[in-house]
Amino acid sequence: MLRALAVDNYRSLRKLRLPLDQLTLITGANGSGKSSLYRSLRLLADAAQNRVVPALALEGGLASTLWAGPEDITRGMRTGDVPIMGTVRNEPINLKLGIAGDEFGYSLELGLPPQDPSSTSMFLGDPHVKREAVWAGAVYRPASALVERRNGLLQVREGRSWQQVGTMLTPFDSMLSQYADPAGAPEMINLRERIRGWRFYDSLRTDAEAPARRSRVGTFTPVLASDGADLAAAWQTIEEIGDSALLEESLQDAFPGAQVQIREDAGGFRLAMRQPGLLRPLEAAELSDGTLRYLMLLAALLSPRPPEFMALNEPETSLHPDLLPALGRLIVKASEQCQLIVVSHARRLISAIEAHEGARCWQLEKALGETTLLGQGLEDTPAWHWPAR
Ligand SMILES: Nc1ncnc2c1ncn2[C@@H]1O[C@H](COP(=O)(O)OP(=O)(O)O)[C@@H](O)[C@H]1O
Ligand SMILES: [Mg+2]
Repeated sequence: MLRALAVDNYRSLRKLRLPLDQLTLITGANGSGKSSLYRSLRLLADAAQNRVVPALALEGGLASTLWAGPEDITRGMRTGDVPIMGTVRNEPINLKLGIAGDEFGYSLELGLPPQDPSSTSMFLGDPHVKREAVWAGAVYRPASALVERRNGLLQVREGRSWQQVGTMLTPFDSMLSQYADPAGAPEMINLRERIRGWRFYDSLRTDAEAPARRSRVGTFTPVLASDGADLAAAWQTIEEIGDSALLEESLQDAFPGAQVQIREDAGGFRLAMRQPGLLRPLEAAELSDGTLRYLMLLAALLSPRPPEFMALNEPETSLHPDLLPALGRLIVKASEQCQLIVVSHARRLISAIEAHEGARCWQLEKALGETTLLGQGLEDTPAWHWPAR
C-alpha cells in the first residue's frame, strides 16, 4: 500500500506531504490545488511510461508549472510583517515528485536545462531529469537506496557496494523506463510495473460524440478505458468473470428497477438500459450524460482486475446530486479491493464517504499562494527526505 505522496514546487504545491490511506478524499475550494495534486500523481505514473517530459509540455512547460512564490515563506511573511519577496535561492528550483509505500519509494526531480548558448538543438527548453532514486522502505536514506540516478549517470546497489551502470540516460528519459535489467535492479522493475498498473479516471466522455454511445467491437475488457469508450465490453466482462452480484446491487442502489443489457449487432457490442416507466430500453446514445457516466464509474470501480491504486478526479461531474450518496457507497465498496484517492468538491459525496471509517478526508487550503492541508499536524505528516543532489 502507498503511504505517502510528496510534491515540491509544482504549481501551488510548494511542499506537500500527503499521507495516503486505503481511501483518501481530497476536497477544497476552487483554485486550492486539487487538480494539481491529482496531476502530480499522474506525472509520477507518466514517468513509469517515460512520458513525463511531454506531459509537462502539454501543461505549458516546466517553467510555468514551477512554484511561482519564494523558496521559503518566512514567519514574517506569514504574519504579514514582511512583504512577500524572493529570497536568495539556496538551490535551483526543481520540480520534485515522490511516492512511498511500505516496501519501496521512488522520487523524481526535474529541472530547467543548463544554459548552453553554443547549442543549436531545438529542444533547449525541455526539462531535464536531474535526479531519481528508488529505495527500500518508507523513507529515503542513502543507506536504503537501491538505484540512484544523477543526471545521466546511473548506479545500482550490489550488496555493500555500488555498480556503475554503463547506460547513459538522456536527460529526457526516466530511469524507470529506460533501464530494464531484471538482474541488476529487480526492485526497480517491480516498482515500474506497479506504477504502470495505476489507473486514472478524469476524462470519462459522455458528450454526444462520446465513443461509448456507439456500438463497437467488443473484446474481453477487464479494465475500462480512461475515456470509457469500451463500456459495453467492460460491463459484459464484469458480468462474466467479475462480481456480477455486486454490480447488480450497485446498479439498483443508484437506479432502482433499472436493467442494463449488453447486445451484439453488426456494429459490435452495444449497451442499453431499461428503466421503470419506459416502454423500451434506452440505447447508450440516448442516455443522459449523468446516467452514462454513472455506468462508466460502476464499470471502472468494479473492475474484475482491480489495480493496486486508482485515482478519480471529480467523479461527480454531470451527476444528479441524488446519485451522490450511492456513488459514495460504491467508492467505499471499491476501496476494499484497491487503494483509492478521490478528488471532489461535491458536499454530498464527501459526507457519504467521510462516514466510512477506512476513509480519510483532507481539505486543501491556500495560504499566501501555497496549498496546505487543513489541520495537518506533525503526527500526520509522513516523514520524507529528498535524495541530496
Ligand atoms: N506556477 C505556479 N505557482 C504557484 N501557483 C500556481 C502556479 N500555477 C498555478 N498556480 C495556482 O495553483 C492553483 C491550482 O489550482 P488547481 O489545482 O487547478 O485547483 P482546483 O483543482 O482545486 O480548483 C491555482 O489557484 C493557481 O492560481
Ligand atoms: Mg480542479
